[in-house]
Amino acid sequence: MRKKVIAANWKMNGTLEQANALLDAFAAAPLTVNENKIAVFAVPAPYLMLAKEKLSGNPYLQVAAQNCYSKKSGAYTGELSVEILQSIGINYVVLGHSERREYFGESNAFLADKVNICLEYNITPIFCCGEPLEIREADTQNAFVAKQLQESLFHLSASEIVKLVIAYEPIWAIGTGKTASSAQAQEMHASIRSVFAAKYGAEVASIIPILYGGSVKASNASEIFSETDVDGGLVGGASLIADEFIKIINA
Ligand code: 13P
Repeated sequence: MRKKVIAANWKMNGTLEQANALLDAFAAAPLTVNENKIAVFAVPAPYLMLAKEKLSGNPYLQVAAQNCYSKKSGAYTGELSVEILQSIGINYVVLGHSERREYFGESNAFLADKVNICLEYNITPIFCCGEPLEIREADTQNAFVAKQLQESLFHLSASEIVKLVIAYEPIWAIGTGKTASSAQAQEMHASIRSVFAAKYGAEVASIIPILYGGSVKASNASEIFSETDVDGGLVGGASLIADEFIKIINA
């Protein structure tokens, strides 16, 4: 059985005071998490240790970095290394978010290096993929996303690929209030799973969690999550509102 994962991506949001309040609310809330369904909080880097500490009472609440660099350590001012993340007990990192790809020029090849260093340090990448609007309008999204996966992940062995979590986030649905329909999400998630099946076999493909991201809210989460190949969500805006995100986790 593959794991369900509900991940919060706070992006570059929240003061220390707000972070404290949100983390306290999540730590105190009755959440339906267990060994098959975890919640992950990708908080801004200065709050990683705070989040670890505040959520430490529940092993199914995990903390993620929103990015890391492709080298283990060294003279890379401003970057965050896997060695640092490992040393503070962080087990997850979001990689290849469309905002990183678009604003910071992260390529599929560069992301392949980041995936490698994470796996070397036993940190699980939550690997993001997804197409811009013009690709969706041209109806070439399946090939576009397949290429992202092939160029960043297909050098991995089967025993490595099953350690990843994939997040499909159509760029046109991020922060726009416009979600993919649950049918569009299912269609893409099935396509992603078939891309993995063609390379690694159906059994390997069947255990990789594939999350949907893009304007997930409490009001649409259960419909999207009920699709066969949707194994959870990566949530931006709604993860900054405690009540909303608690409802999404429990959806
Ligand atoms: P929104 O949920 O705000 O659309 O953001 C989605 C996202 O980019 C999560 O990584």
